[in-house]
Amino acid sequence: MLELRPIDQTSYDDLVQMYKESFSGFPWFEDLSHSEVEARVSKHMGQRGFAGILGSVDNEPVGASWWNTPTLAELAEEKGPEVARFATSYAHHHLVWERELLVRPRYQGRGYSLPLRKAFLASLELGRTLVLTRMRDDNVGTLKTGEAVGFRPTSIVTPSKKEGAFHRVYYLLVER
Ligand SMILES: CC(C)(COP(=O)(O)OP(=O)(O)OC[C@H]1O[C@@H](n2cnc3c(N)ncnc32)[C@H](O)[C@@H]1OP(=O)(O)O)[C@@H](O)C(=O)NCCC(=O)NCCS
Repeated sequence: MLELRPIDQTSYDDLVQMYKESFSGFPWFEDLSHSEVEARVSKHMGQRGFAGILGSVDNEPVGASWWNTPTLAELAEEKGPEVARFATSYAHHHLVWERELLVRPRYQGRGYSLPLRKAFLASLELGRTLVLTRMRDDNVGTLKTGEAVGFRPTSIVTPSKKEGAFHRVYYLLVER
């Protein structure tokens, strides 16, 4: 059974390992060195409002979801002015960027990504929240669970490194 718990500083090695494995597979096929992955994960863990959920089965880490809470300026700097303009139209909402959702390749296809994503959304604080994320158009697994929890497409698209593929920004409004 999938067990979920909050990510903390002790999760670092597990996140690095899971990130490396997950992004070496479909649809990314990234050949990242250990230090490149460490740099990415460390950067994410250092971002404003970083938090996450780690999923494990029989004490083996199988997947994770993590997010952060950028300011509009940070969002503009990282994701561009169009994304920041979109967020500005929800000025009375908390802003959350869903940064990663991943399941280790050998555990994929077992339905673990949806509970991770749902746990992320359930953990958001009370109030009105605009959740933004970016998904690649050929990344079927993430698109399916994204749609299942209510993410909707914006018109903001950017090309992917893979020829012919593109990234689209999605949004979800949470109110409780
Ligand atoms: C995206 C990811 C988290 C999905 O996890 P998963 O364990 O593979 O997916 P699940 O088993 O939870 O399946 C979710 C749904 O997607 C479908 N799906 C998953 N991978 C698929 C694929 N390659 N092709 C077609 N459908 C797929 C499943 O059939 C399921 O559909 P259903 O809800 O209709 O039953 C995982 O593939 C991953 O870690 N990928 C690499 C990292 C990544 O791309 N993260 C997202 C960045 S935005």
